[in-house]
Amino acid sequence: MSFDIQKIREDFPILKRRVNGMPLVYLDNAATSQKPQQVIDCIVDYYSNYNANIHRGVHSLSQEATDAYEKARKILQLHFNAANAHEVLFNSGTTEGINLVASGFTNLLHKGDEIIVSALEHHSNIVPWQMLCERTGATLKVIPMNEDGTLQMDVFHSLLNSNTKLVFVNHISNALGIINPIKEIIDAAHKVGAGVLIDGAQACSHVKADMQALDVDFYVTSAHKMCGPTGVGMLYMKEAWGKKLPPYQGGGEMIATVTFEKTTYAEMPHKFEAGTPNISGGIAFGAAVDYLNAIGFDTIKKQEEALLQYATEQLLSIEGLKIYGTSEDKTSVISFNVGEIHPYDIGTILDKLGIAVRTGHHCAQPIMDFYRIPGTVRASFAFYNTLEEVDVLVAGVKKATMMLR
Ligand code: ALA
Repeated sequence: MSFDIQKIREDFPILKRRVNGMPLVYLDNAATSQKPQQVIDCIVDYYSNYNANIHRGVHSLSQEATDAYEKARKILQLHFNAANAHEVLFNSGTTEGINLVASGFTNLLHKGDEIIVSALEHHSNIVPWQMLCERTGATLKVIPMNEDGTLQMDVFHSLLNSNTKLVFVNHISNALGIINPIKEIIDAAHKVGAGVLIDGAQACSHVKADMQALDVDFYVTSAHKMCGPTGVGMLYMKEAWGKKLPPYQGGGEMIATVTFEKTTYAEMPHKFEAGTPNISGGIAFGAAVDYLNAIGFDTIKKQEEALLQYATEQLLSIEGLKIYGTSEDKTSVISFNVGEIHPYDIGTILDKLGIAVRTGHHCAQPIMDFYRIPGTVRASFAFYNTLEEVDVLVAGVKKATMMLR
C-alpha cells in the first residue's frame, strides 16, 4: 500500500484545527499522540450501544462489553507477541504499571540488594524505584550517559553482580528520542539473575516490541502515545512473575474467594486488575493498535525517518541551535536550544504561530542536569506530520530567535 499522507491526515479531525488563527502544526507527539476517527468512533460506539460493566453480568450488554474488552487484550497479545493473553494486564498507563511492579517487590527485596536504572529515565521510571529502595533498604545504581545521549554500556556491564535484582531502562528516551540497546541489557541482566522492566511509553508508536524475542520480564506502555485514549495502558508481565508478585490493589474481580477469615486471589490478569477498569479505553486501545498496524510499522518508520532527517538538517541551519541527543540510533524527537534563549520563550512564540511543541525538562531532570541546561524545546514527530510542517517549525524558530536575541 502506498502511503497517502493527506488521506492519513483526514483520519485525524484535530489536524484541521486552527490555533491562534493559524493552522495547527502538532509536534508534541511524544507527550501524547492525536486520535484517528476510528478510535474516537470506537469510544462513542461503546457508550452509545453497549455500555455495561464487564466480567460481571449474564445479561447481553455485559457479555458484549466483556467480549470487546477481552478481544482488545488479544489484539495486544498478538501485537506484542506475548505468549499468553493473561500476561497482558490493563491499567491506567505506564506510571501505574511501573508502580504496580515496584509495589510488588516490596517484600522481595532486602538490604544489600541492588537495582539499576539508567540516566535517561523519565521521572516515572526513577521515583517509584527510589521509593522502593526506601521501603526495602535496597540500593539504586545508575547507568551514566554519554554526550550523544547513549548509555555507557561498559559501566552498565560493570554494575551487574550477584546482588543485582532488577534493571529498569526505557526502550526509547522521551526527552531525546534515543533508542536503547534493550536486548543487550535484558540478556546481561538475566545472566546475573536480575529481572528487567522496560518502559516502552515512547517506543510503541514507533516500533513493534516483541515480548518473547526480547525475553523481557515486564514491559509497560500507554495507549495515548499510540493514537489511543488517555487513562489506559498495558503492563506485560511474564507468567512466572505473575505468580510471584502479590496483588497491587485489593477489590472486586481480583479475588477467587472472600471470607472475613481469609481471601484468596484470582489468577492473572484479574489478580492485578482490581475494580471496574477503563472499559471503553481498553477497547479503544485495541482499535488504536489495529489502526497503527493497518498503516504498518515499516511505513511509519519510513515517514518518521524522513521527517527526522529533514528537520535535523533544517534546524541545524539556524545559527546557535544545538540538538541534544545526537546518536544515530534515535526516533523522530528533536530536543534543542538556541543559544541562551530560554526554551519556554521559544515555545510561547511557536504557540502563537499555531505550532505545538513541549518545552522544559520533559520529566527527565537528570538529563537536563547532565547537559547543565534548564530544559529544551522538544519537537516530536508522528507519521501524520509532513515535511511542510517541518518548514513551518523552522520558520517559526527563526522568527522566535530573531525576536528574542
Ligand atoms: N512523558 C510525556 C512526555 O515526554 C508526557 O512529554
